[in-house]
Amino acid sequence: MDKIVVLDFGSQYSHLICRRIREFSVYAELVPFDISLEELKKLNPKGIIFSGGPASVYNNDSPKPKTGIFDIGLPVLGICYGHQLIVNNFGGKVKRANKEYGSSSLTVDNDSDLLFGMGKSIRAWMSHGDAAEKIPDGFDIIGHTESSHAAAIANKQKLIYGIQFHPEVVHTEKGTEILRNFVINICRAKQDWTIENFIETTVTEISKIDGNVLCGISGGVDSTVTALLIQKAIGNRLKCVFVDNGLLRLNEGQEVETMFKNNFAVNFTHINAKERFLERLKGITDPEQKRKIVGEEFVQIFTEFAEKNGPFKWLAQGTLYPDVIESGVSKGPASVIKTHHNVGGLPSWFNMQVLEPLRFLYKDEVRKVARALGVSDKLLNRHPFPGPGLAVRIIGEVTEKKLQICKIASKIVEDELVAANLNDKVWQAYAAVGDDKAVGVVGDERKYGHIVTVRVVDSIDGMTADWTRLPANILEKISNRITNEVEDAVWVSYVISSKPPATIEPQ
Ligand code: XMP
Repeated sequence: MDKIVVLDFGSQYSHLICRRIREFSVYAELVPFDISLEELKKLNPKGIIFSGGPASVYNNDSPKPKTGIFDIGLPVLGICYGHQLIVNNFGGKVKRANKEYGSSSLTVDNDSDLLFGMGKSIRAWMSHGDAAEKIPDGFDIIGHTESSHAAAIANKQKLIYGIQFHPEVVHTEKGTEILRNFVINICRAKQDWTIENFIETTVTEISKIDGNVLCGISGGVDSTVTALLIQKAIGNRLKCVFVDNGLLRLNEGQEVETMFKNNFAVNFTHINAKERFLERLKGITDPEQKRKIVGEEFVQIFTEFAEKNGPFKWLAQGTLYPDVIESGVSKGPASVIKTHHNVGGLPSWFNMQVLEPLRFLYKDEVRKVARALGVSDKLLNRHPFPGPGLAVRIIGEVTEKKLQICKIASKIVEDELVAANLNDKVWQAYAAVGDDKAVGVVGDERKYGHIVTVRVVDSIDGMTADWTRLPANILEKISNRITNEVEDAVWVSYVISSKPPATIEPQ
């Protein structure tokens, strides 16, 4: 497969460059900015892109690529900070300029290759504090803005290009076209990154491994796709375990089992461990303690399964590309944002090798693979659900009664949003319950019951979220149904806090 390598100099948009390139079916991979030339050559890329980044080239400790990178003979495109690195490297001059942030008009001076098809000018997104003052020998200016006379430069002989703006963000008009000009016309990369191709090469790779594989199933897309790919490769040497901890959504355990048994020829074990989890959670009210207990119990059950059904050489996980990057595994400057449990935190006794077939995929790509493998839309469209399940949606101790309230009320919220055609439009929607009680009147009797809290949020990625302005008639219907149909629920409240400062889950 032809490949473009993106050196990550720490821009918040570095991932976007890869995503845009993959959109036109060329495989792109993000690597640390200081990748050795040897490792880089091993990747055998068709071209190199330097991402933007927050540093200034004239700071001594600013990140630089390894010396000799321009001598490999591959086309290079520098974006923003990457553009300045190129100017600096070839003897031009970068100066501190007035901060230019937002949309600028880029006048096209030469549309023969990188800026082919751009017309006379485009809207370009700038985000920088430095600018190229003097361009190096051998380079031509191919585009300028009012404040940046060398906003796009080219050395057509060496195939080295620099642009001050960000083609990867949607605010840059025809930005994807600029990346396409570089990747396809200049680097001559083949457009062979397709979902079918991914499935075929991944299955071929996995089929070469020996030993048995253990895969935990959560009922979500990532673990389902992981299992299906491995099953295609090694059949019955894969054993999937679905641990039903009793903290799932209403009927979810049964639905996951039915989906697997009816649709996929996967070796599937459903372990009903509700009693064990509830026993360990008895009397526990601290949220972090609850999370810890749920995690520990999962590991314990896995251990027991592995001892009885092993040996297993491999543990399969549905780790995705952003998890790998965020965990600092890439060692780029954007690293160490968080240590993801999948990547960083396996218990030491887990003496197995880790198999992560999705580690180079983004979520939208996993969804496409899922579709190609026959995963139903119902599962694909399910809202995200926290690993510790309802333990974090039940405030205070987890009891049977609160579990029932939480499950049935959440189902009512989901059903009403589905009926109003809103369920696919919101990020998450559920009901939570704690120990707060209020007085209601049922028939002629005064009743002291639970307050149920409904939370519906809009979000792009779960990192920030806004509370959904649901129409009053839908809120009314949800409230009526919860107080009528859920035993012991007398009040319904709706959360009007966004993230930040609130979080999406109550705990
Ligand atoms: P918060 O509550 O932090 O949640 O705003 C952000 C997103 O992450 C989900 N979430 C979790 N997912 N394990 C998970 O796999 C967890 O412990 C966990 N906690 C929160 C949450 O549902 C939301 O989509």
